[in-house]
Order: sequence, then C-alpha cells, then structure tokens
Amino acid sequence: MPESFITHLQCSNCGETYDDRDPMRTCPACEKVLFARYDLEKAAGAKAELNDRDPNMWRYREVMPVRDPANIITLGEGMTPMIDAERLATEVGSPGLLLKDEGVCPTGSFKARGLSAAVSKAKELGLMKLTMPSAGNAAGAMAAYAAAGGLESNVFMPKDAPSANQVECLAYGANLTLVDGFINDAGRISGEAAAERGLFDVSTLKEPYRAEGKKTMGYEIAEQLGWKLPDVIVYPTGGGTGIVGMWKAFSEMECMGWIGPERPRMVMVQAEGCAPFVKAFEDGKRHADLFPNPHTIAAGMRVPIGIGDYLVIDAVRESNGTGLTVTDDEMVRGVRDLSSYEGIFAAPEGGALVGALRKMLNDGTVSRDERVLLLVTGSGLKYLDVLTPALAALA
Ligand SMILES: Cc1ncc(COP(=O)(O)O)c(C=O)c1O
Ligand SMILES: [Zn+2]
Repeated sequence: MPESFITHLQCSNCGETYDDRDPMRTCPACEKVLFARYDLEKAAGAKAELNDRDPNMWRYREVMPVRDPANIITLGEGMTPMIDAERLATEVGSPGLLLKDEGVCPTGSFKARGLSAAVSKAKELGLMKLTMPSAGNAAGAMAAYAAAGGLESNVFMPKDAPSANQVECLAYGANLTLVDGFINDAGRISGEAAAERGLFDVSTLKEPYRAEGKKTMGYEIAEQLGWKLPDVIVYPTGGGTGIVGMWKAFSEMECMGWIGPERPRMVMVQAEGCAPFVKAFEDGKRHADLFPNPHTIAAGMRVPIGIGDYLVIDAVRESNGTGLTVTDDEMVRGVRDLSSYEGIFAAPEGGALVGALRKMLNDGTVSRDERVLLLVTGSGLKYLDVLTPALAALA
C-alpha cells in the first residue's frame, strides 16, 4: 500500500498551520475552514501507478489524509461511471454532454466519499464517537462508515428528512434524533451534544477531511477524461463541499504536473427556495446571509447557510463560472429526463442540473460546442416519498 504524503493542516483563511495528528475542527485562530496539505512533490509520482490500482477513491492514496492504511474504512466508494449522455445531449442541445453518476456510490450518494475519508481519519485519531447534523444522505453515509469501522454515530436530522435516510441510519445502528427545525437547528443541537458527551462533530467543512473525500471527484474527472478537464462543471450546491473539494483537487493536480492551468467554469446550482450562495454571488458578496424559510424537495440543497461560503463563491468567481437557481418542478422534470433518456434514476439534486443546463443553453451562458459535465450526486431511490407524487403529477 502506498503511503499518504499528508504533512499538516492549514487554515484556508489566515494561513495558520496545525498538526493533522491532533483532532482538529475549524481553525482555532479564526474559526474558518482548515485544509489538509501534502508533500505534492513526493506525491506526484503516483500518476504513473494509477492504472494498476483498485477502482475506488483510495487509489489517490498519496493525497489522502489517512496515515496508517489499517485505519481506512472503505466500501468501494468512488471511480463512478463517466457517461457519455448522447440521448439527453440531443434532447437539450448540448453535444458532448457528460454525466458522472454518483448514485452508484455505497449508500446511494457521493456523501460516501466525504464520510469514508472523515470517519477513517477520525478512527486514526481515536475519535470513536461521532455526531452530525444532516439533511439526509450525509447522515446515512456517516452511519454506514461508522458501522463498518466500529465507531458510534449520532445523527441529528430535520424531522422532514427523507424517510430512506431515517431508516438507513437506524439500520446502520446510529442514534437518531429528529429535530423540529432546519439543518442549522440540527447543527446547534448536535454541537451541544458534542460538548456535553464528548462526541466529535463531523459537520461538513467544520472538520478538514470530508472535503478530502469529495475532492476525489476532481481527480477522477481528470483521470477519466485523459487528464483534460471539461469546459463546464455543473454542481448541485448545498454546503458546497464538492466545489471546494474539486477546486482544491485541480490546484493539487496542477502543482503535481498532472494537469495544466486550464480550469472548468464551475456552476453552482441551488434551489429557488434555498439559494444563499447564489444570492451572495449575485450581490457581489463573499459571505452569504442566512436564507429565510428554506424550502425545496431536494433535501441536500436545503442548507440555508454554510461555513464554506467564501470558498465556494471564490472558486465560482475565479473559474469565471456562475450560480443559478431552479424550481422544484424543474428538478422533477430533470429527474424524469435523466431517467427516461439515460437510464439514471437520479435524486432531485441531480435533476436540478438538467434544468440549470437548459437555462444556461437558452441564455447563452453555455454554448453548444462546450463540453459540459453534470455531477449527478445521488440516487432517486432515496427520495421515493417526494418523487412518487411529484413524478405522477408530471405525467
Ligand atoms: C444528493 C445530494 N446532492 C448534493 C448535495 C449538496 O452537497 P454539498 O453540501 O457538497 O453542496 C447533497 C447534500 O446533502 C446531496 O445529498
Ligand atoms: Zn485561520
């Protein structure tokens, strides 16, 4: 097994450095997001060996944070299919359209990547009792990886979270608390439980390692496309960890000489009923305000505020990308499009991308000759309670 070349943690805001062998959450100096840093000169040689490695995200082991391979908890997450979406491409008018189907990840969403990394690193640090507020899929993923690694998991979920997520948490043996409120209310209660009971809170971007799991999407996109990135990546944005992770991956790969300086335009898609980052982006700001009365059927996008706002918005701006919103109805139509043209029964978050692409092709934000990748982040099977009536209503 190759080794990890992690060297330390560094604050994404003030630049202060910390030891990754200590349990860390946000930066003690400024409370912003910490990033894992690696000896990229040493890690660069890994590219030549990738062909011989297992098809999961731990193939990028040199730039992953777990030091002792015995601590890696894997269920085979990552290396998801890159699909040439010919029929959908013709339907929407975007030849060369690509889909990355994250719904085939263990637990049915790309949250498996972040939680495989974070739960493994927690185990390495001896943090055996975890807690998390989650709108749904992340909780299921934490509970699954905690189960596989023998850790305790505690989940605080808004009571209207999809029933599949509630059931899977119970099946995986998590202690599930349903909260009468939104994800930020669940976050507060989870934080209180962490303080009282000595639990480690693995809320996204409030510990450094979920982003490391998510960044592997960026590595895979490059590897699967022969180290040439698409022109545009469209991403359904809740807390935005995927954009943060992929943007970090691109910069690491450039430092290692794996790719050049070209970057895709990063497009963040949010729900019309919950769009704090898009609003901040449109207002020319770097930090988002709490979005009032957040509502959408896409539970993963029902995130009214996020600690990583500045990282997401900076990446979108630097990439010359944009942000836009779609309605729930457009998401459901997108789910039907992905299903009926491509055989991918996607979560509403994935459906949102099709609606967003149609809009961007219409208003010229994206042109027909550009290579667009939609990151279809999860499976529709976890959303039967909302999709069953919504798809029937479309017919
Ligand atoms: C299927 C799905 N897509 C997208 C998201 C949003 O992810 P992020 O928080 O990285 O923006 C989530 C979050 O729960 C999700 O479950
Ligand atoms: Zn700092």
